[in-house]
Amino acid sequence: MSHSHRWVLYGFVLVFVLVFVTACGGGGQQQTQQPASQPSPPTTEQPAQPPAPAQSEEEQLIARGQYLATSIGCTACHSADGTTLVGPTWKGLYGHEVTVILPDGTETTVIADEEYLRESILNPNAKITKGFQANLMPIYEGQLNEDDLKALIEYIKSLSGEHSHE
Ligand code: HEC
Repeated sequence: MSHSHRWVLYGFVLVFVLVFVTACGGGGQQQTQQPASQPSPPTTEQPAQPPAPAQSEEEQLIARGQYLATSIGCTACHSADGTTLVGPTWKGLYGHEVTVILPDGTETTVIADEEYLRESILNPNAKITKGFQANLMPIYEGQLNEDDLKALIEYIKSLSGEHSHE
């Protein structure tokens, strides 16, 4: 191989190396364009709830009173169907006459209005229903809050057997 051929060969090698380095080292600047971040999908609207069957405030109270009467335990002694248990039935109680014995032994007649129901629940011994024993019913004074008391009274009222909605 002549000297001139050898230089040509070196030239090729040099060019080759330069091209190689440029191709590998210089390519690093290319920026890959990030795809624009997707906007979060719009929150899917909840389908509107079908309207609950309209229940009046009174009906809600009655339902709550009925639930409380069972959960507190009133129904162990009081029926809603006329059956006499340990205590008088609540059926037909509200708005009707009740014969009671006062603490001094006097027998008298009262109308079972809201005030009477309230007193009978909070302080059962204030007026003992004739034919029933005193001191059997627990004293609920301080045990029931006003809302529960109202619900229970409303429930008992609903058992009056009359459709007198004031
Ligand atoms: C352990 C049995 C017992 C439990 C429990 C009981 N009672 Fe009584 N209740 C009686 C008895 C006995 C009488 C009748 C004697 C009297 O007037 O205290 C009575 C009377 C009543 C009266 C008057 C009824 C009437 O005809 O004059 C009402 C109202 C009443 N209870 C409501 C309730 C409520 C509300 C509850 C629950 C929060 C309850 N009672 C829990 C035994 C009970």
